[in-house]
Amino acid sequence: MAASLRALPVGLLLVQSAVLSFPLGQNRAEVATCGYKSCHATVPNMLNVHLVPHTHDDVGWLKTVDQYYYGDRNDIQHAGVQYILDSVVDQLLKNPDRRFIYVETAFFYRWWKQQSSSMQQTVKQLVSEGRLEFVNGGWCMSDEATTHYSAVIDQMTMGLKFLNETFGPCGRPRVAWHIDPFGHAREHASMFAQMGYDGFFFGRLDYQDRGHRMKNKDQELLWRASDSLTPPLADLFTGILPNGYNPPAGFCWDQLCDDPPIRDDPDLEDYNVDDVVERFLSVAHSQALVYKTNHIIMTMGSDFQYENANLWYKNLDKLIHYVNAQQANGSKVNVLYSTPSCYLQELHRANLTWALKTDDFFPYADNAHNFWTGYFTSRPALKRYERLSNSRLQICNQLEVLNGPASRKGPFGEGDSQTMRKAMAVAQHHDAVSGTEKQHVANDYARRLANGWEHCRVLVSNSLAALSGTSAKRLYCDNLNISVCPFTESTKKFAVNVYNPLAQPVTWPVRLPVNGTAYSVTDAKGKPLDCQVVPVSQATRELRQNRGYAVSELVFQVEAPPLGYSTYSVSLLQNGPPSAATQHRAPLAIQNKYLQVTFDPETGLLSSFSNLETRQTVELTQNFYWYNASDGYNAHSNQPSGAYIFRPNSSTPFVISWIAKTETIKTPVVQEVRQWFSPWVSQVVRLYADSKALELEWTVGPLPIDDGLGKEVITRLDTSIKSSGIFYTDSNGREVLQRGKDFRPTWDLKQTEPIAGNYYPVNSRAYIKDESDQLTVVTDRSQGGGSIQNGSLEIMLHRRLLYDDVRGVGEPLNETSNEYPEGLVVRGKLLLSLNPPESAADTHRPLAQQVVLQPLLTFTDGDLQSDTRLEFSGLQAVLPPAVHLLTVSQWDRDLVLLRLEHQFQSWESKMHSQPVTVNLQKLFSTMEVLGFSETNLSANQWKDEMTRLDWRPQTDDVPLLKPLGDPSIWEVTLKPMEIRTFLLRVSHR
Ligand SMILES: *[C@@H]1O[C@H](CO)[C@@H](O)[C@H](O)[C@H]1NC(C)=O
Ligand SMILES: *[C@@H]1O[C@H](CO)[C@@H](O)[C@H](O)[C@H]1NC(C)=O
Ligand SMILES: [Zn+2]
Repeated sequence: MAASLRALPVGLLLVQSAVLSFPLGQNRAEVATCGYKSCHATVPNMLNVHLVPHTHDDVGWLKTVDQYYYGDRNDIQHAGVQYILDSVVDQLLKNPDRRFIYVETAFFYRWWKQQSSSMQQTVKQLVSEGRLEFVNGGWCMSDEATTHYSAVIDQMTMGLKFLNETFGPCGRPRVAWHIDPFGHAREHASMFAQMGYDGFFFGRLDYQDRGHRMKNKDQELLWRASDSLTPPLADLFTGILPNGYNPPAGFCWDQLCDDPPIRDDPDLEDYNVDDVVERFLSVAHSQALVYKTNHIIMTMGSDFQYENANLWYKNLDKLIHYVNAQQANGSKVNVLYSTPSCYLQELHRANLTWALKTDDFFPYADNAHNFWTGYFTSRPALKRYERLSNSRLQICNQLEVLNGPASRKGPFGEGDSQTMRKAMAVAQHHDAVSGTEKQHVANDYARRLANGWEHCRVLVSNSLAALSGTSAKRLYCDNLNISVCPFTESTKKFAVNVYNPLAQPVTWPVRLPVNGTAYSVTDAKGKPLDCQVVPVSQATRELRQNRGYAVSELVFQVEAPPLGYSTYSVSLLQNGPPSAATQHRAPLAIQNKYLQVTFDPETGLLSSFSNLETRQTVELTQNFYWYNASDGYNAHSNQPSGAYIFRPNSSTPFVISWIAKTETIKTPVVQEVRQWFSPWVSQVVRLYADSKALELEWTVGPLPIDDGLGKEVITRLDTSIKSSGIFYTDSNGREVLQRGKDFRPTWDLKQTEPIAGNYYPVNSRAYIKDESDQLTVVTDRSQGGGSIQNGSLEIMLHRRLLYDDVRGVGEPLNETSNEYPEGLVVRGKLLLSLNPPESAADTHRPLAQQVVLQPLLTFTDGDLQSDTRLEFSGLQAVLPPAVHLLTVSQWDRDLVLLRLEHQFQSWESKMHSQPVTVNLQKLFSTMEVLGFSETNLSANQWKDEMTRLDWRPQTDDVPLLKPLGDPSIWEVTLKPMEIRTFLLRVSHR
């Protein structure tokens, strides 16, 4: 097909001829020898050793991303990425055989901007000859346990877009490369497959798992990463690297290493070529024993290596020369400069079948008592801030599209979405949202997100001004969660604009700090709304300290249209303290029309949970406990709990209190029971009138450490559900995986840590179920969780530790701040729903999306101008419940990036696990879609040009289904769990 036709499929026939010249495609007539064609030849009847020179450059860890780039603060860690790239390019030019791979686009982009055009030309040449190859290529190497798929797709897209725009097809990485993340999520593999990667390599997996795989030569395998997408859509060839990501012992020639150089002048002292060659052959032969083909890979590099690349390359040149020289003496080993994709190509040529894997690589233990399951929860405040920032970024992106790029400049000044996009991309790094960085680096990530939001706020204000027709000053209240908003506290009359980023309408509770007794709230049509004034809780007063003084909160429920907003007017009617009375007796029950919970009158704890619609009831007790973190002085091992590792000293947690002091508030809008457990743990059990989920708003901290004990605080739900040792957790917020107690699907587990070894990442939800009941917990951030007893589900909320866990960060996880010198206090929500298992997803799927993409509230003072547009939807119609609008974002001046997602798994819902069709032409209300072109998931390759290497599993009983064709060119069909990505050409109406 001709390029212009492919760029605009048949759809162009429907649109004006101006669109014909729409240059989505590009001229592919380039003569380039990058990619598989640029690989060095191998020798068929020999053992081929692929040497892969590489550097692992953390996008922040012990130093901030900028400190790493410049090589600042070398007193903390000697590392400077700018010098690495300078030096490597220089060394590549010295010998065309040499190869290098580069991974983290956040760094490469910084370096590229600073190069002269002649240097840029030189680098382009190296890339087009395959001598410098991009691998992975996202903005960072994301964490896999604590990231949400939406943010991962965004950060990959940003890095890959830069590479494509800068280098064209030769800049498109073929291989995904996650050599350092601490365990591997199935959803990441699924995303990589859909981004068009041919294979995936990583370094870390459970030590028992590795042992079995070495024995069975299963360190290379085929990962079937979705139970819903038709194979091979989510199939990803996966290779486990032999030595983490380090060189074999004795062969590290970086300036950071101490191994002996190759001394090859026989006239000088200490000639060691024979010794080096002999040691190398021995390492190669033993490595070959645990892999299947006559090709093996060696990662020649490590953290921030190649700053003086001459050291590495000079010795590698010699190594290759002297080892291959032995072939003349009958050696059957051939060493070559290579890259992961060249190695992958040889594995593919071997045409073998590979073990099929359908679960994931969590949890990761590097030894019997060292489970890396603490970081699932580490830095809970940063984890929440990152998730909230994602919601803000998506809103910023959407409003930039709905009102067009003009929103960047307007009555409120100049704003942009790019700053926030970069801040979010950096935050996905495996030492960022994971919580495994030093404190000053964590502060830097948070600062970047805050700065990104400042840029977005201007854009959002400009766009809302244009869409609503009012340039009234727009205020933001970022601290509503602790009941602080000076504006609502002191203003008699104001309007609240509620923007909903979802493709379905949302009902959302609004709580505003106020000081009056009575208010009137009217909706966009002028209709009065039920609203209620309730007192601010003691826990909230203590938490906010002197940041705010509101005595009450005004509570009402709003409804916002899809991809749009609705405006509510609030007026003070009467000054004075709140009208809703608080009862101090223990409550018996609270309820709305859907749900009821009862409390034990003796203890004040929850005792049962009912769904009134389905007439289901389960016993439910919930309480708070803490594990005593191991301090490292222990009979079995000296491993302490730390930022990475969770290691309780005992499997029995301490209860914080068996009794909660309670306070009850019952109003027509909200019913809540405020529970107080201790000076550092409290909770509100809350039911809004229209909610199908029970809210548990927990407040934990500052964790006391004056007893010298590190603490890992959990909440545990103990129910009558017969869960038989099985529970379920989501993978990066998308597909749900089954977990078995003391069980791993692919080997016989020898369990050595009964609690930590049963913890899994919970990114957005976890559930337990039996034949009749499913209790689902939706979380507002990533957390660790487990089901240790039948019927029980525990979620770790906060951790404060006194020792470093010896994995490099070099600090105990002991978070304090200027505002909270006694230790961080963290507040968050769990949303509980109870449903029959066969329809539970109908509730928890939309619920989780509402938490991930929560509405944005903005405020304007006084009366609105009469011509203000009070309600707006960017969609022509609500999308079907199965469809999630994953991305609406400005791509460049002319194009819009759109991702539509089917948000149900194939087995999950009778009602929604069906193909569903969306018409692109009838999608948006503010713009017309003139043409579109489909791409891979990361939008760096046209869909119809995607060809991936094919791999055969050892056993394959999954029938290949015929793909459904789209009924008409504008209609896009989504099958369960499918994401489809489009670039749209639009014109604003
Ligand atoms: C890749 O980049 C080129 C410019 O180098 C551009 O013309 C093309 O549209 C991009 N491809 C995709 C899929 O975005
Ligand atoms: C790969 O192996 C299969 C089955 O053994 C065989 O049918 C096929 O022709 C082989 N492909 C190549 C390219 O050698
Ligand atoms: Zn790393």
